Amino acid sequence: MEKVRVELGERSYDITIAAGTLGGIGPAMKELSIGRRVAVVTNPTVGALYEKTVVDSLKTAGFSPITITVPDGEKYKTLESAATIYERLLTEKFDRKCSLVALGGGVIGDLTGFVAATYLRGVPFVQVPTTLLAQVDSSVGGKTGVNHPLGKNMIGAFYQPLLVWIDTATLTTLPPREFIAGLAEVVKYGVISDKSLFDYLEEAIEDILALREQDLTRIIKRSCEIKAEVVGQDERESGLRAILNYGHTVGHAIETATGYTRYLHGEAVAIGMIAAARLAVALGRCDKSVTSRIEALLHRGGLPVCVPSDLPPRQLVELTGGDKKAVEKKARFILPSRIGQVDITDDWDETTLESVLRPS
Ligand SMILES: NC(=O)c1ccc[n+]([C@@H]2O[C@H](COP(=O)([O-])OP(=O)(O)OC[C@H]3O[C@@H](n4cnc5c(N)ncnc54)[C@H](O)[C@@H]3O)[C@@H](O)[C@H]2O)c1
Repeated sequence: MEKVRVELGERSYDITIAAGTLGGIGPAMKELSIGRRVAVVTNPTVGALYEKTVVDSLKTAGFSPITITVPDGEKYKTLESAATIYERLLTEKFDRKCSLVALGGGVIGDLTGFVAATYLRGVPFVQVPTTLLAQVDSSVGGKTGVNHPLGKNMIGAFYQPLLVWIDTATLTTLPPREFIAGLAEVVKYGVISDKSLFDYLEEAIEDILALREQDLTRIIKRSCEIKAEVVGQDERESGLRAILNYGHTVGHAIETATGYTRYLHGEAVAIGMIAAARLAVALGRCDKSVTSRIEALLHRGGLPVCVPSDLPPRQLVELTGGDKKAVEKKARFILPSRIGQVDITDDWDETTLESVLRPS
């Protein structure tokens, strides 16, 4: 089993990564100083596949688990869903010694983490991420939260889990499109901080798409190491953590412009990564070959790389917050200088951004 430590002083925790370890969650949680009562939060899709293994393992290890199921989907990452979970925990008389387990993708992880941060002013929680995106990104780092009708992730808390327990075998049931969307975040880690990860992705992309076990463990572990390193240095995003947003400025603009329905998050980020790389080239900050390599890798991974022709570049520029009439603050861009290194900058102009967003 591979282990990555997130170093955050007294809030430090381990991420474990291996195939077929879901049934080991009970004994692993027994090592933590927590009470017997555990609520496993999941959704019907993931619950049908993995709830029994988790609940049985917890029972065998001496816990007395209950399951709380919320509907599947981003539109249920809300305060209403949080309220349903609070109500069940209160009805069951869960006290401060109880803990929560988030069994699912990023939606379940963010929602459960938020409930854990706020129920009785904070109870322990464990992440059991089951999507690639959640395994390499959302389960690590302590950002928790729910959406508000006026914006995504607008209500939340920084709240670290006690443990992140990754069973890579859960990825075998994930719809391929979801897996590929998660891969965009792995490519992101290569571009922002690790050329050898990027080289390896170029070499092994077909094996990764075929879910070859050793490749999955390797890319997930390296991604978690990079995220842990960044979060360890800047837990609350006062500086360095912003590099994790590479590709997200234009990515978010595309998600907003398409009403969050056409693209999965990772797909929009893939297009955003190319846009940012092209912006870096246009501003003379990096060589064109960098864009070509990122584009080729994303394309081989099955990800979109072009801004769709029906989205006016001007609209996207405005949505990035680049339009100072709309938003006071100019968006910061994360721009690659070479594979494995990025800079955070607000030294860009709308005309250049608009030009790189035009279909070529
Ligand atoms: N907290 C953070 O730092 C952070 C970072 C990035 C994204 N996020 C959040 O993560 C969320 C997106 O997460 P996601 O991409 O995991 O989406 P998701 O949680 O909606 O999962 C995608 C779909 O896959 C299903 N699923 C999950 N695991 C499965 C499995 N093993 N087999 C079969 N089906 C499975 C889910 O039920 C869902 O239908 C967004 O809300 C985003 O804001 C948070």
